[in-house]
Amino acid sequence: MRIGVICAMHEEVDLIRKDMQSDKIETIAGRDFHIGKLYGVDTVLVVSRIGKVASAITTSILIDRFNVDKVVFSGTAGGVDPKMNVGDAVVATSSVQHDFKVPGGDMFRIPLLDISYLPTDEELSKKAMEAVQEYISNDMLNDIPKQYLDEFKIISPKVEMGVIASGDEFVCSKERNNWLYENVKDIKCVEMEGASVAQACFEYGVPYAIIRVISDCANDDASVDFDLFIKEAACHFTRGTVKALFSRLG
Ligand code: ADE
Repeated sequence: MRIGVICAMHEEVDLIRKDMQSDKIETIAGRDFHIGKLYGVDTVLVVSRIGKVASAITTSILIDRFNVDKVVFSGTAGGVDPKMNVGDAVVATSSVQHDFKVPGGDMFRIPLLDISYLPTDEELSKKAMEAVQEYISNDMLNDIPKQYLDEFKIISPKVEMGVIASGDEFVCSKERNNWLYENVKDIKCVEMEGASVAQACFEYGVPYAIIRVISDCANDDASVDFDLFIKEAACHFTRGTVKALFSRLG
């Protein structure tokens, strides 16, 4: 079994790569695909780059050229459900492109596929949920330096399952946040890649899971929080959850 692991940011892949054995790199479409064993699992690790087009291209290459059997995406998101705080995590039940708009039919419907909310793989997502729970309870508060736990006000982080919305937009206004909360069913958070990774996986028939840690509250302060969070917290979260997930993939 070979797993494709995708992160949106270089910082996350740079940290995970340190744990990869016999690291070999193939460059396709400007992306470095890291091939090797990660925590005992045959893995191809790559940065998706930012946005739906970039991540769909990356996912297609992973599936078509590297024959991965499953895809796992891990990264950050902006909280939309008011219960989600910085440091909390979301494992997707399904994902939706919140900027997809064509006349007729359901909101966000993808023509020809005739579906709006693309379901994640149940078994992989259940294992992802357990993995995040394990990481949050055992390691997260030690991995992130105290100074940043205080700065991000992370006290007792939680993980929830729900819908993740993706669009080619960094959401940083209360108005857009409210619109998402009112229009996307069961939404937990917003990001820029998950639903396009999902569409590529859906069309190729490859199981996938999306794990996201909340870096900001997708409001007027969002861009201020984001960069620091990636550097000081998200990298550790991604590494820790992928490690815990891979130990369950036997
Ligand atoms: N990724 C992390 N925070 C985000 C936000 N506020 N909007 C879109 N993508 C994000």
